[in-house]
Amino acid sequence: MKPLQAVESVAQLQPYIPGKPIDELERQYGVKNAVKVASNENPLGPSPKVLSHLQQLLLKPKEFSRYPDGNGYILKNKLIEKLANDELSLSIDQITLGNGSNDVLDLLARTFASINDEVIFSQYAFAVYPIATQAVGATAVVTKALEWGNDLHAMLDAITSRTRLIFIANPNNPTGTCLPAKDLLNFLQQVPENIVVVIDEAYEEYASDYIEGYHSILSALNQFNNLVITRTFSKAYGLASFRVGYAVSSITIADLINRVRQPFNNNTFALETASIALDDQVHIRQCVELNWQGMSYLISGFKSLGLDYIPSAGNFVCVKIGSDCEQVYEKLLYEGVITRPLANYHMPEYLRISIGTMAENERVFEALKKVVSI
Ligand SMILES: Cc1ncc(COP(=O)(O)O)c(C=O)c1O
Repeated sequence: MKPLQAVESVAQLQPYIPGKPIDELERQYGVKNAVKVASNENPLGPSPKVLSHLQQLLLKPKEFSRYPDGNGYILKNKLIEKLANDELSLSIDQITLGNGSNDVLDLLARTFASINDEVIFSQYAFAVYPIATQAVGATAVVTKALEWGNDLHAMLDAITSRTRLIFIANPNNPTGTCLPAKDLLNFLQQVPENIVVVIDEAYEEYASDYIEGYHSILSALNQFNNLVITRTFSKAYGLASFRVGYAVSSITIADLINRVRQPFNNNTFALETASIALDDQVHIRQCVELNWQGMSYLISGFKSLGLDYIPSAGNFVCVKIGSDCEQVYEKLLYEGVITRPLANYHMPEYLRISIGTMAENERVFEALKKVVSI
């Protein structure tokens, strides 16, 4: 029998490693009431309005046999209402919905890059960028990080005639660094117009109004035809399990991405819950405020333990454990605390910790204090 033959670039792919699920930890380690601070999820969950809407949906079982609205009309309209402002008018044709923003990032790679093309992103960039790049057979050009973040000068220097796409997360995951909007604008002015620049704003809600110099680059959309902004409902909106993300771009780019998008990539529950979640901005504010309280609690804790950390603009923080990081990660698992080791990001001495509820943060700190002092 002939062996199966995968596409070469796919055969060599390292798969994405997700945070360990709570159930798996409880099964494997026999611990109870575990706390997961490994995947930058919202510890408060979605708006209570989402929960009551879901109950209403369950009363309409006939809807379950219908395909969802493949164009996501209601959600897209809600989004343009929320995103448009005095400087920016948007049309529904500029929004592309994805099964999580991951889906949109993948669609962008499939639309714009192929064999012999180059895709630029930074050292310590989100793990999906190399996967999406390699999956389409394109070449990843990884620029050296500057203070753990994206070095825009290095990225400009890395551009060649083969560059098709640039991915920049702002704030960046896993390091939490962020770039001032003015630096990104300056960068966009220097990137040739035929190269698509993706600014991944998965953590925008946490940084806006809280991090000096940071604001979304959304208002620049009308100036740059090659700019794509991606966002998600998985983080501040607390809807990670529903898988909803989106891209905002020029109509030309949206039209191209839509050609490779699966017709029904968002299910009805996802579309409806995301629309309702957008209405409750009070909940988002509460979640973001809790995040910053939790962040300062954890940072004081790290300082009291003499641990270094990377200042973060997101809902997570990287703490430097040192050469015994892997053992500390394991010991934390036995304490029922799931953090994210970063060896696959070439940061073997760091753990990434998502901000939880205050009770969860206290649990994380107490466990860390116990295991680092053993
Ligand atoms: C920077 C960044 N972009 C995109 C995503 C993907 O999120 P989702 O597919 O849940 O929207 C993540 C998730 O962790 C992320 O950290």
